[in-house]
Amino acid sequence: MKHFLDIHQTDPADLRSIINDAAAMKAERIGRPRGAPDDDQPLKDHMVALIFEKPSTRTRVSFDVGVRQMGGQTMVLSGADMQLGHGETIADTARVLSRYVDLIMIRTFEEATLLEMAEYASVPVINGLTNRTHPCQIMADIMTFEEHSGPIKGKKVVWSGDGNNVFASFAHAAKSFDFELVFTGPPTLDPESALDGLYTTERDPNKAVEGADLVVTDTWVSMHDPQSARERRHNQLRGYQVNDALMAKAKPDALFMHCLPAHRDDEVTSSVMDGPRSVIFDEAENRLHAQKSIMRWCLDK
Ligand code: CP
Ligand code: NVA
Repeated sequence: MKHFLDIHQTDPADLRSIINDAAAMKAERIGRPRGAPDDDQPLKDHMVALIFEKPSTRTRVSFDVGVRQMGGQTMVLSGADMQLGHGETIADTARVLSRYVDLIMIRTFEEATLLEMAEYASVPVINGLTNRTHPCQIMADIMTFEEHSGPIKGKKVVWSGDGNNVFASFAHAAKSFDFELVFTGPPTLDPESALDGLYTTERDPNKAVEGADLVVTDTWVSMHDPQSARERRHNQLRGYQVNDALMAKAKPDALFMHCLPAHRDDEVTSSVMDGPRSVIFDEAENRLHAQKSIMRWCLDK
């Protein structure tokens, strides 16, 4: 069973071929209407369940469109509307869904939910974000970086802000794709210790971004963080905002990325988001292509 659960649980050679296939599939679609089917229909007669226990715009729409372009059908399911949200076990849900559908994508809170789904499902399961990781996002980010700046191997990536789930997948990717990753943020919001050794820390954001090929940030309050922590987090993270002054200290051709949704003028200024180094909407588009490639890989298509 080829689940796509995390970057560090996927063979680096497979990760590379997923990115290359995504780029080829994207190239094939140039000039086509968004809704036009691909020439190749690897998901014909396939049914895909997309389960969301948290809000989503990009993940929801990009998976749905991607399945349809490849000839398959989707059902988008809200966790709260399923029996899953009312006491049915994850294991039972996984076994039931496996009798109906060919692939399951789930966005959930606890990583344990994803892992239990994968353990009991007899169809591939894809991680659409948990409190700990967001691997599909980082596959799209690697693809986007390489489109603009060439191979990411050996490049310097700087993450400014919260050591969160998106950072964790960047840390896993740093090892698999062999790039340097620097974290700059307050000690109270350091990444979890399981990621130690995959990145270095520089508390001064101005020093951290020196020589950076890519500067990345994300929301200061993630979906699983309590809203009561909002003010404290903002106070701790204010000094790590990505703004024009910070970008000016990176390499002149450094890119800026954000997985979105962004809180304009909190973690990043609008001038950077809308500026010439920002590739945020390419990242969003590449979710589509990267995930189509991930689904094909899962299904051996
Ligand atoms: N970046 C991302 O996963 O966006 P959504 O929450 O809109 O899916
Ligand atoms: N870190 C954010 C990412 C959203 C795509 C969150 O988990 O809410």
